[in-house]
Amino acid sequence: MINENVRAPLERNIAMELVRVTESAALVSARYLGMGNKNQVDQAAVNAMRKVLGYVRMDGVVVIGEGEKDDAPMLYIGEKIGDGSDLKVDIAVDPVDGTTLVARGLPGAISVVALSARGTIHCPRQFVYMNKIVTGHEAKDAININDSVANNLKNIAEVKKRKVSEITVVVLDRPRHEKLLSEIRAAGARVKLISDGDVAASIQAALPNTGVDVLMGVGGTPEGVLSAAAILCVGGTIQCMAWPRDEKERNQAIADGVDLTKVYKTEDLIDSDDVFFAATGVSSGELLQGVRYMSGGARTQSIAMRSKSGTVRWIDSWHNFEKLDKVSLIEFH
Ligand code: FBP
Repeated sequence: MINENVRAPLERNIAMELVRVTESAALVSARYLGMGNKNQVDQAAVNAMRKVLGYVRMDGVVVIGEGEKDDAPMLYIGEKIGDGSDLKVDIAVDPVDGTTLVARGLPGAISVVALSARGTIHCPRQFVYMNKIVTGHEAKDAININDSVANNLKNIAEVKKRKVSEITVVVLDRPRHEKLLSEIRAAGARVKLISDGDVAASIQAALPNTGVDVLMGVGGTPEGVLSAAAILCVGGTIQCMAWPRDEKERNQAIADGVDLTKVYKTEDLIDSDDVFFAATGVSSGELLQGVRYMSGGARTQSIAMRSKSGTVRWIDSWHNFEKLDKVSLIEFH
């Protein structure tokens, strides 16, 4: 049936093109699985991502990338990227979220790109870390980062019609989370510790029926914004607050007039109703399978999504290295 009420169909879905970007980054960086060198993992992914992004039809500016221009030769914040076509967009990248996971041969590393209209991605970069709480659509109105851990868990359990003991919280395994962990355990919820990679964990918390109900704790600020992009596509919510690492960072923030009590909600981080997001598994995890090299090529698994339509695509790809050798910008083997 044709919907006569809609005159203009949804135009180009750039997430479909971004998948090629994250696939390329995953395919080259996964080669270094377990080799113990996280910089090598990152560098391979950055090189591939930079090259493929350069051919996407857009006038892009990197707003989340590898850091400031002086330290990062590629994908630095402010770098112009794309083929220069008219579409003005912000690009947020994490060529590999979980470089240490790949270097150590552990599960859960993904390559990530998000994109939305120019000026709509806001990353409070003055803080390296933010305290975060993420949950899915069902419990999105039940959480409040300023409320106690016990109350949040009780409220999530209530809307999900479960006992608190049937709620699973994913937390980065860090000494800074000692108090958080004892509060979660005292409340009676289940805990899933991860050693790295809170973007994939946030997506799991936002998606229904993944076995993870909520993410809590302190992680990277850029990762929080990338998670917000995914959450705008799949539903759910993220709330974050600045988490200064020490007194010096706290005092500097206060001197700069930053409001440390501000709660950044999903829409504060990305202020757009048309966000595109793609991620590809690097090392196999619960959200996505990692790169599997086989005779003649490799398989990847990705997720591509768009907030306006709400379509979430799980994409399994086969990459034929012999053919790609002749046509690809990237050397895959
Ligand atoms: P990298 O891949 O850049 O190392 O980031 C991995 C990560 O685990 C993120 O997912 C997370 O937000 C952040 O590091 C946590 O930072 P830290 O390891 O300093 O606690």
